[in-house]
Amino acid sequence: MAQSTRIAVTPGDGIGPEVVAEAVRCLETLRAKHGLDLEWTRFPWPSHAWHEEHGESMPADALAQLQKYDAILLGALGDPGPMDDPDRYLLPDSISLAPLLDMRKGFDQWVCERPARLLPGARQYLADERAKDIDMLVIRENSEGEYVSQGGRLRKGTPDEVATQMEIFTRKATDRIIRYGFEQARNRAADRVKEGRTRTFRTLDGRTCESQVCLITKRNALRYWGDMYTEAFDEISKEYPDVATHHELVDAACMKFVQSPWAFDVVVASNLQGDILTDLAAVLSGGMGVAPSCNLNPTDPDMPSMFEPTHGSAPDIAGQGLADPTAMLFTAARMLEWLGRKDPAIAAAGKELFDAVAADLAENSGRRRGTHEIGSAICERLSQ
Ligand code: IPM
Ligand code: MN
Repeated sequence: MAQSTRIAVTPGDGIGPEVVAEAVRCLETLRAKHGLDLEWTRFPWPSHAWHEEHGESMPADALAQLQKYDAILLGALGDPGPMDDPDRYLLPDSISLAPLLDMRKGFDQWVCERPARLLPGARQYLADERAKDIDMLVIRENSEGEYVSQGGRLRKGTPDEVATQMEIFTRKATDRIIRYGFEQARNRAADRVKEGRTRTFRTLDGRTCESQVCLITKRNALRYWGDMYTEAFDEISKEYPDVATHHELVDAACMKFVQSPWAFDVVVASNLQGDILTDLAAVLSGGMGVAPSCNLNPTDPDMPSMFEPTHGSAPDIAGQGLADPTAMLFTAARMLEWLGRKDPAIAAAGKELFDAVAADLAENSGRRRGTHEIGSAICERLSQ
């Protein structure tokens, strides 16, 4: 008999445990309803609490333990809150968030996918009515670039101190992330055809395509990796004549994300530039409370992918039951769809969860509700 699909649940810090609890309730509901072959184990690490007790955010063999799972569902890491407790156990960001980067690197989760679609009911921050059509997928290179953490501090603490922070861009990682972007553009176009909501994008030579990939760089100043990305993009795009291509410098992209975000489809960006753009994209699609994220290794089936909302630990509202679990639930839905590549019943449950969360959002637009109340409403919808 095939082995069941196993999820490592790591609630983390702050609002993490609160929103993860709602995701687990939804998973339980779906498992019971469809008899899904799904199991999960909850880990008390990585977290501030674990660090306080053990002097480290997670055990030395943490990655080896997590590797036995098919996916990791992570709440949030960072300041655990509450903010009004000046004596709370606090760690520097670079320590509390290190496990996140360790997992991304250790499991070679080289894609970070952050969809930004303004769904009915989500808060529309832009006044322009065309903002209703925002539907982009930002794909962030997640394995190298500005996040390689190489460098150091020379003559530390002296007036002559020098800090170096290296950036590394390999052709291999460049090619694979760009190709992934084109594949996703094709998939999205095919899904839109099925759903009867086709979009059109113009190519430079005047043709129209049903999808687009926009490459982001800062090649006017950071020319070495910028030129390499541009060359790779031009070459790979020839394999996808059905997908329109576009390029933006990252500063202009920030402007256009606000000015005309509905003109973007798939966006491919470097690790840091993608990080910055996806906070902006999250707001365009309703805010951090609804923005999902996933860190994927599409190439090595032995490596678990990790699913975490774009938001952080929100220490200002932690422990009060106020956090919106919507982003976490959309993230869990994407996780099920990902895991469903091996088990179609799990993929169908992912779609069902997405639809239930979207319907709840549409019906309760703008209503103030607590974490548990939202989770209960969605579980109830799933039970029907
Ligand atoms: C994110 C976060 C992380 C990142 C931090 C916490 C290291 O901002 O997932 O977007 O920069 O990748
Ligand atoms: Mn970020």
